[in-house]
Amino acid sequence: MCGIVGYVGPSSQLADERGTAAGHDALDVLVEGLRRLEYRGYDSAGVAVISDGTVGFRKKAGKLLNLEQELGEHPLPRSTTGIGHTRWATHGGPSDLNAHPHVVDGGRLAVIHNGIIENFAEIKRELVEKGHEFLSETDTEVAAVLLADTYNDLGDQDLTAAMQVACRRLEGAFTLLAVHVDHPGRVVAARRNSPLVLGLGEGENFLGSDVSGFIDYTRSAVELGQDQVVSITADAYEITDFHGNPAEGKPFEVLWDAAAAEKGGFPSFMEKEINEQPMAVEQTLMGRTDPDGNLVLDELKIDESVLRSVDKIVVVACGTAAYAGQVARYAIEHWCRIPTEVELAHEFRYRDPIVNERTLVVALSQSGETMDTLMAVRHAQEQGAKVVAICNTNGSTIPREADAALYTHAGPEIAVASTKAFLAQITAAYLLGLYLAQLRGNKYKDEIAGILAELETMPAKIQQVIDAQGAVKDLAQSMKDAASVLFLGRHVGFPVALEGALKLKEIAYIHAEGFAAGELKHGPIALIEEGQPVFVIVPSPRGRDSLHAKVVSNIQEIRARGAVTIVIAEEGDESVADYANHVFRVPQSPTLLQPLLTTVPLQIFACELATAKGYDVDQPRNLAKSVTVE
Ligand code: AGP
Repeated sequence: MCGIVGYVGPSSQLADERGTAAGHDALDVLVEGLRRLEYRGYDSAGVAVISDGTVGFRKKAGKLLNLEQELGEHPLPRSTTGIGHTRWATHGGPSDLNAHPHVVDGGRLAVIHNGIIENFAEIKRELVEKGHEFLSETDTEVAAVLLADTYNDLGDQDLTAAMQVACRRLEGAFTLLAVHVDHPGRVVAARRNSPLVLGLGEGENFLGSDVSGFIDYTRSAVELGQDQVVSITADAYEITDFHGNPAEGKPFEVLWDAAAAEKGGFPSFMEKEINEQPMAVEQTLMGRTDPDGNLVLDELKIDESVLRSVDKIVVVACGTAAYAGQVARYAIEHWCRIPTEVELAHEFRYRDPIVNERTLVVALSQSGETMDTLMAVRHAQEQGAKVVAICNTNGSTIPREADAALYTHAGPEIAVASTKAFLAQITAAYLLGLYLAQLRGNKYKDEIAGILAELETMPAKIQQVIDAQGAVKDLAQSMKDAASVLFLGRHVGFPVALEGALKLKEIAYIHAEGFAAGELKHGPIALIEEGQPVFVIVPSPRGRDSLHAKVVSNIQEIRARGAVTIVIAEEGDESVADYANHVFRVPQSPTLLQPLLTTVPLQIFACELATAKGYDVDQPRNLAKSVTVE
């Protein structure tokens, strides 16, 4: 998820002719827009402007400040046309070279991109065979060279047509913006599965990955639709589909203030990120299979013979990431038949674990900077184990020090309470498990394809759960004065119960505890008294029958003792209705994938209850987004 901004203002000549004010200096608009968009990605930033027949560009790894310093030391000329980008790395770590814009074709064309181009490797091979060379590791540079190659092949200097033709080749998710020396006063853009909005000014026009990019200049916007190309000049714009047919965008007036715009209109980053979860899972799944349907994990640079020899897997992580590991453990053991442990990273190295060269350690971390997890990684490597990092932050310390990395593509997670990263971590861990099962022959190709097909349906199912969030919010508001809330789950529902309790603890400051439902009779049932709220995550009745029946009887037991039972159950499971004070339904899904759905009502409940208590859900007391001390 990157920040993108584009601008075309009136040339001074045009302004003179009209007797209107000269437009803004493109650079001012771009930098201001990137500042507003920095929450969308901040591992590198860059700008490109068209001036005097050349593309002037600057780009720097690190925060936007680094780019501003670079621009101070090496200024660009005043311009009316430009594009800007602040990056959240997916392909290729944060570096000056991998930063956008990518300037190609002898400096004539500059391109910026948000998204993941799934077929970039295949296109890159074709372009290399045509004699093109590449400087970076990014999929974006491939798109830029493809656009330049197409523009030159078409030969009629029509950048819009070239963009249409190039986009028809691309698969995956992309928002592309391009400027070309042949077209001062024009920015051409395109989108598929990635956001792009047009801002309409007085004699000037803007583009942005969201309205934050231009909210300081105009509130008149046009949302672009799927597979559309837009070409803007200072006083006009044209929208087509990828075949050049005229198309329409959706005009709207921006009612948010700038701060709300950064949150996409949501009251908090946490709520925004809960709602981004379908995208987080979808993008984490994107680009993981080759044209023959084989699972391909490019970043997993560990020798296949080593992976085949693995006889134990140990997941090390903290907090929510550890619970993601616990969910994944059920799937990995079931698919790969490799003994899999999940250890809290801060406990791992002090327990003197049995780890050797046949152990695969999986380090789960959203930030990639959690010191406890980093120290566990180092300890594991000292013992001879190979380490795979599953991380959401490209180029951070843990994936850098690990032997291999498998990146989630949830985009930056700003709220301290992890939500979309959690679902993305589970998804990535599933991919790792399937990859190992494919490599070691535990699963046939069609079985793996079947599970991947089920995973592909999860984003839409997650969206269904999100769409039904009203009832969950109502319950949360009614329970805002609860003194404690318990969470019960079994099998993969047990780590979901732990995660639901953690969410409530860390943002609503309420005592909350998650239990394995089977543990109830071994002590926790003593906690049940009249009015005690208890969430129960019910496994699918289509899974292991005994599991479902046992959890239903747990609900009966606590209901009989006065608990207020709040049940998360799949659609069609009517067996819970008689014992539930509240039922929240999730779409049917395979047992092992169900946590991607049952977690969501618990996140919404915690966020809404904390909001009802007037707390800052994004920055809860005593907590930091990344715990970089032990
Ligand atoms: C989760 O909501 C918390 N923010 C915390 O438990 C977090 O998951 C944990 O600190 C691990 O962080 P990491 O994923 O960045 O390593």
